[in-house]
Amino acid sequence: MRLFITGGAGFIGSNFIRHILSEHRGHHIVNFDKLTYAGNLENLSDLADDSNYSFVKGDICDRSAVDDAITGADAVINFAAESHVDRSIERATEFITTNVSGTQTLLDAARAARVSRFLQISTDEVMGSCAEGEYFTEDSPLCPNSPYAASKTAAEHFVRAAHVTFGLDVVTTRASNNYGPFQFPEKLIPLMISNALEDKKLPVYGDGLNTRDWLYVEDCCRAIDLVLHKGESGTVYNIGSRAEKTNLDVVRTLLDLVGKPHSLITFVTDRLGHDRRYATDPTRIETEFGWSPRETFESGIAKTVSWYRENSSWVERARSGDYREYYERMYGNR
Ligand code: NAD
Ligand code: TYD
Repeated sequence: MRLFITGGAGFIGSNFIRHILSEHRGHHIVNFDKLTYAGNLENLSDLADDSNYSFVKGDICDRSAVDDAITGADAVINFAAESHVDRSIERATEFITTNVSGTQTLLDAARAARVSRFLQISTDEVMGSCAEGEYFTEDSPLCPNSPYAASKTAAEHFVRAAHVTFGLDVVTTRASNNYGPFQFPEKLIPLMISNALEDKKLPVYGDGLNTRDWLYVEDCCRAIDLVLHKGESGTVYNIGSRAEKTNLDVVRTLLDLVGKPHSLITFVTDRLGHDRRYATDPTRIETEFGWSPRETFESGIAKTVSWYRENSSWVERARSGDYREYYERMYGNR
C-alpha cells in the first residue's frame, strides 16, 4: 500500500510513520510536510535510509505540489494542521488556511488522483466541552469553542461533503489529548516536563481543574492504523483512553516523577474560552476493532518523562528561534 501522509514531521505524524514502517513492511510512505515551527525532520532521522520512506517539503494548500507528490498513492492520511489552541486564540488566520482550505485542496487532489481512501485526523475538541458525568459519542453535536476547534470542525464538514457529494471513501478519527515522545514543548505535558527539569515555574491556567483524557501516542497510532485498514467509509471513530485527569493532577504527577517540589506550580490567567472537560466514548473502536490502550496514564507518563530527560538537546533545538518569542508573548506578563 502506498500512503501519502501529510504533517508527518510533527508529533503524531512522525510517531505514526515509525509505527507503520515497523508494523507493515510492504507499505511505502511519502511524507508531505511544510516544516512549520512544529515540523521537525529530526523526529524521523532514524528512517532517512529506509527505502520505503521518502520526504517531500510542501504545503497542503499548494495544489500543484500536492498533485505531483500524491501520484500513485492508495490512501491519504491528513495529519497536517496548525494544532495549538493558544496560537489560534492569538491569530486564527493560519488555522483557516491550513486546516480548512488545505484539507479541501487535499480532497480535490485525492479525488483527481483516484485515491482509494482519505483518512482525516480530527480531534475530540470539535464536540466542545462535555458536562460532568457525560461522554460524547460520534453522534454528539459538533460544538467547537476555540478557533482551532472551529477550523478542525469545518475541515470535518468538507471531508463529509466530499463523501456524500462525490462518493470519496473517507474515514475520520477524533482522538483525545495525545502525549509521548516528540511532542513540541508548547503543549501541556512536554512544556511542564521541560520547565520542571530546568527548575522553571509551571504555568497552570485558571484553577487547574480542567480535565483532559490523556492518550499515549503509540496507542493512538495503533487506533489510526486500524481505522485506515478496517474503518467503514463515511464513518467517524472516537479514540479515547478513559484516562481523565485534571491539569493539576497531571502537573503534580510530573513534578513527582522529575523529583521537583510542587511549589514550582504557578497559577496564571486562564485561557480565553477554556474548555472545562473533554470526554469521549470510545466504545465504537473498542467493539468493532478490539482496540484498547496498552499504556495506563501511569506507565505512559513515566516513559514520556524518561524520553524528555534523555532528549534535552531535542527540546533545546525545538524551542530555539520562533518559540522563544512565542513563550515571551504567552507567559512574559501573564
Ligand atoms: P503538530 O503541530 O506537532 O504537527 C503538525 C505538522 O503539520 C507539522 O509537521 C507541520 O510542519 C505540518 N504542517 C502544518 N501546516 C502545514 C501545511 N500547510 N502543509 C503541510 N504541512 C503542514 O501536530 P500534532 O499534535 O502531531 O497533531 C497532528 C494532527 O492530529 C493534527 O491534525 C491535530 O489537529 C490532530 N490531533 C492532535 C491531537 C494532540 O493531542 N496532539 C489530538 C487529536 C487530534
Ligand atoms: P494543551 O496541551 O494546549 O491541549 P488542549 O488545549 O488542546 O487540550 O492544554 C491541555 C490543558 O492544559 C488545557 O486545559 C490547557 C492547560 N494548559 C495549562 O494549564 N498551562 C499551559 O501552559 C498549557 C500549554 C496548557
